[in-house]
Amino acid sequence: MISVGIIGGTGYTGKKLIQYCNVHPFISEYKVYAGKSAGENLYDYFPELIGYIENSTVQSIDSVSYEHDLYFVAVPHGESLKYIPSLISNGKYVIDLGGDFRLDFEELYIQWYKFTHTSSYLLKSKIYGLADHPDTKYEEHKLVANPGCYPTATLLSLLPLVTNYSDKISTVSCIAYSGTSGAGKKPKTELMMSEMDGNVKAYNINEHKHEPEILQHLYKNGFDSPLTFTTHLLPVSKGIYLTASVHLKETIEQGELLDMYKQTYENSNFVRIRNSAPELNWVVDTNFCDINVSVKGKSLIITTAIDNLIKGASGQAIQNMNKLLGWEETTGVLQKELKHVSVY
Ligand SMILES: NC(=O)c1ccc[n+]([C@@H]2O[C@H](COP(=O)([O-])OP(=O)(O)OC[C@H]3O[C@@H](n4cnc5c(N)ncnc54)[C@H](OP(=O)(O)O)[C@@H]3O)[C@@H](O)[C@H]2O)c1
Repeated sequence: MISVGIIGGTGYTGKKLIQYCNVHPFISEYKVYAGKSAGENLYDYFPELIGYIENSTVQSIDSVSYEHDLYFVAVPHGESLKYIPSLISNGKYVIDLGGDFRLDFEELYIQWYKFTHTSSYLLKSKIYGLADHPDTKYEEHKLVANPGCYPTATLLSLLPLVTNYSDKISTVSCIAYSGTSGAGKKPKTELMMSEMDGNVKAYNINEHKHEPEILQHLYKNGFDSPLTFTTHLLPVSKGIYLTASVHLKETIEQGELLDMYKQTYENSNFVRIRNSAPELNWVVDTNFCDINVSVKGKSLIITTAIDNLIKGASGQAIQNMNKLLGWEETTGVLQKELKHVSVY
């Protein structure tokens, strides 16, 4: 049994972490730490959770000590640098849901995040915790950088193709959509219902922080083609939808492609290979990632759906904790443990 600290527990992803930690059979206790909401009761802050969780007081983020075995850190970019280095040097396990440790190189971090990295020595020793990918290994690590929501959907979609057929790829165009909770709970005019209701818009064109994260992992797996990555806001609160259009130098047979995706995820509990384009509604409020691949001549379309707060954040973070500590990855994530759910 372990004790857990949830730093940034009053945010959107933090609330999901509380819900998961509350039912996890190997977590004996958890404490929630936050900024402005410190001192409030969880029952006042999350009235919808009364009856599901024990009430407790939100602790000040300034009072984080070393009393827990493992810490989830779910604070805005740049903020986690204040806490993670000392937690790691005190032997604690840390799973960071933010982007501060995802990139391998300090220069890239400064370029895309516009902060100086005060603990860049940890960039090389962390695990990039793409939990559903079979090549992600967890031995002897203390720090897990939980992937971003868009990179989770994009890498689970493209890595099998890139690993096996990178020489056949000409170009890749990723068009991705997110619900508004992707930006966190801080009020912003452009995220108000009066702005977003009935609306769709592209944002951060050619400058989304998730682009270098995606490319970093594609390059490691042999990718060397042009890629565009364009993000859009959808008028829904939760969900990420990705359409990746891949132009091939020569065609790949549909059956061969499908076998390769099914084989990659044959032991996965949370990736479902679908026989038609997935819908957001199939995955919202779940830890599943649904993927469909379809090839016609030299055009290959991959469509993918996840819940940004769960598969793209807290659900994957719990999976990462389970794997890091040697527990079955579904523990506390799936109510009923189903094995090998990949379907076609
Ligand atoms: N939302 C998503 O879909 C998603 C997906 C993947 C990864 N992430 C990443 O996960 C992290 C948390 O995201 P979130 O959406 O849960 O954020 P959020 O809803 O904005 O919550 C942020 C949490 O951090 C606390 N906090 C501490 N210092 C803060 C500061 N200086 N400014 C603002 N908040 C501060 C807040 O506490 P107070 O409110 O009490 O100050 C709150 O508990 C971020 O790094 C984000 O990029 C988010």
